[in-house]
Amino acid sequence: MAKIIYVEFDGGRRTVEVADGLSVMEGGRQAGIDAMDGDCGGCCSCATCKILVDQPWLDKIGAAGPDEREMLEFRGDMPANARLSCQVIVGPELDGLVVYMPKTQDSAEFGVLEAG
Ligand code: FES
Repeated sequence: MAKIIYVEFDGGRRTVEVADGLSVMEGGRQAGIDAMDGDCGGCCSCATCKILVDQPWLDKIGAAGPDEREMLEFRGDMPANARLSCQVIVGPELDGLVVYMPKTQDSAEFGVLEAG
């Protein structure tokens, strides 16, 4: 179990306890987080689960795999610290992770650009 902090486009923050083994996308969807779509159910084929993550957390999460990188590169307009939240699996090491949500999953517009 880890507390994941979802920062929405308008700056609102929701802290959600997410069970180990779920993805950050699944945790957000279960909690009804706006702008967390996850259309493909976590198969890394839709990019509707985009988040930004601060660099220290990126180091803990580890590098994106080839499929995730390909999806993000396909978008072409994603910041370097963007990730697909369906590919970020929760465990105790991610307790306190802060993720930043876009305005909508159709846009690359993130409201709170603290991440970087
Ligand atoms: S839910 Fe489809 S790529 Fe993440």
